[in-house]
Amino acid sequence: MKNLLADSTLEFARTLHDSPRGEDDLSRILAEPGFGEVFTDHMVDIHWSEKGGWHRPRVLPYGPISLDPAAAVLHYGQEIFEGLKAYRHADGSIWTFRPVENAKRFQRSARRMALPELPIDYFVASLRELISVDHRWVPSAPETSLYFRPFMFAAEAFLGVRPAKKVYYHLIASPAGAYFKSGPAPVSIWLSNDFSRAGKGGTGAAKTGGNYAASLIAQQEAYDHGCQQVLFLDSVEGRYLEELGGMNVVLVQRDGTLVTPDSDSILEGITRDSILQLAEDRGHRVERRRVSIDEWREGVASGEVTEVFACGTAAVVTPIALLKATDFEIGAADAPAGELTLSLRQELTDIQYGRVPDRHGWLTRLDS
Ligand code: PLP
Ligand code: COI
Repeated sequence: MKNLLADSTLEFARTLHDSPRGEDDLSRILAEPGFGEVFTDHMVDIHWSEKGGWHRPRVLPYGPISLDPAAAVLHYGQEIFEGLKAYRHADGSIWTFRPVENAKRFQRSARRMALPELPIDYFVASLRELISVDHRWVPSAPETSLYFRPFMFAAEAFLGVRPAKKVYYHLIASPAGAYFKSGPAPVSIWLSNDFSRAGKGGTGAAKTGGNYAASLIAQQEAYDHGCQQVLFLDSVEGRYLEELGGMNVVLVQRDGTLVTPDSDSILEGITRDSILQLAEDRGHRVERRRVSIDEWREGVASGEVTEVFACGTAAVVTPIALLKATDFEIGAADAPAGELTLSLRQELTDIQYGRVPDRHGWLTRLDS
C-alpha cells in the first residue's frame, strides 16, 4: 500500500483557533474537569484512502466533522478508538503512559475491524502535536489529567457492505478528573444476566464502538439498580467473568494472589497489565485464567477472596464493594476499599505523576 507520509517526519499543517478558551474560563474548567464533558481548542486529523495511504495530517480548531450522510460508519459502525492520558508533573512537564501499547492495540483493533493500521509513530506524533497547541489544557490539580481520545472511522459514502476505502483518524482531548463521581471510593456493580457484551469470534477484544453500544442496555440496568457499572459474563456458559462495560476486573485472594479473567473476548487493558506487573514486582503471584462467578461468590463467603477492583485508564483503579445480581449479592455497599487495591493504585499514580522513579520506562514526555 502506498504511503504518502515518510515514517519519521510527520509534518502537521496547522490552523489555529481564532478564539481559544480564555484563561479565566479555562481555570474554572480545569479546577473541576469532570470526565469527557469539555474539549480542548484543537483536534488532529489524518486521512487515509486506499489509493493514497495516510495523508494530510492537520491540526484544526476543535469543531464538527463534516460527513456525507452515507458515510459507512453511520450505517455499519466500522469504527475504533483508544483512551490514554497526559499527566502534568510537579515541574510542569507533560507525560503520557505507555502510548506505544495504546498504538499497538489501536492497530489490533483496526485489523479486526478491517480498517487501515495507523503507524505507531503517527499515533504518538498526533499526541505530541495536540499537546504542542493545547498544553494549557493539561490540569495540575491532584489526580487530574488530560484524557486523549484517538479514533478512526469509515468515512466513505457507500452503502454496500465492505471495508471502506476512505477512512479518517482524529484525536481529541478532554481534561479529566475522577471517572466516578465518588472518586476512588468503592463502587457497586450490576451483574448482567440477560445481555452479553461480546461473543466467541466476535469483536470483544477490539476497542470498537459496537461493543460499547451493546453494553448500554445493561449499563442502564445497572443504574436502575443503583450500581455504577455493569459486569458481563462469558456468552457461552454465562459463568465466567469477562469485564465491566469500560474496565477490567481483578480479584485478590487471601494469600495475596491476584486473579484476572483470561478471555479472547475482553479488552487487554494496559492499566491491568501495569498493575499486575507492579504486584509481581512486590512478589505477588498473578493468575490470568478463567474465573467463575461462583469462585468470587464462594471466595468472599469463605474469606478466600479479600478484595476486588476494577481498572482502566478512565477509572484508574477503583475498589468494588458490592456485586448485585437478580438473585444474590456479594459484598456490601459500605465495604471499605481493600488495602492492596489502594496501595497498587497509589503506586501506579505515583509513577504516572512522576512522584516515584519510572523503573519500567513506561512514561513518554510529550512537551519537548
Ligand atoms: N475494558 C474495557 C471494555 C474498556 O473500555 C477499558 C478502557 O479502556 C478497559 C477494559 C481498560 O483498558 P485500559 O486499561 O487500557 O484503559
Ligand atoms: C478508558 O478507560 O479509556 C475507556 O475507554 C473507558 C470508557 C470511558 C469507555
